[in-house]
Amino acid sequence: MKTTIVTLAGAALISLSGAVFADEQTDIGKKIYDRAFGRGCGTCHDISSNPQLTANIKAGSLDRAKFGEVIKNGRNAMPKAVDEIMKNAAVTKAGYTEEMAIDALYKYIETK
Ligand code: HEC
Repeated sequence: MKTTIVTLAGAALISLSGAVFADEQTDIGKKIYDRAFGRGCGTCHDISSNPQLTANIKAGSLDRAKFGEVIKNGRNAMPKAVDEIMKNAAVTKAGYTEEMAIDALYKYIETK
């Protein structure tokens, strides 16, 4: 009986820390989206003539690999963004690597 209670508490704790981690990741992703290049990605992407990132992810035309590629290299009028992302205060504070920061940004945009 005692073991059952301990196990249940452990499981609750694990799922709770998972939720906290997911929220932190989305929060950092939002801070990057809102602050990159001073005015954020939305300066360009919340305008209908530019690619609609959330819609493209949902439609399956913008997977994580392609997203990372564009962020790292830029594409036509899309500026290379990785240096901007790594300068973001939320990213430096969390000690995120490039891949972790791009993951967080992708996660946020996916659910935006
Ligand atoms: C100065 C305007 C501008 C800013 C700022 C900007 N983008 Fe872009 N982005 C564009 C344009 C224009 C394109 C289309 C490029 C092309 O012709 O292929 C694009 C394309 C993209 C693509 C490829 C979309 C697809 O479906 O293939 C991604 C991903 C992307 N941007 C992410 C971002 C993110 C994330 C940020 C913020 C860190 C950002 N962009 C900031 C203008 C911008």
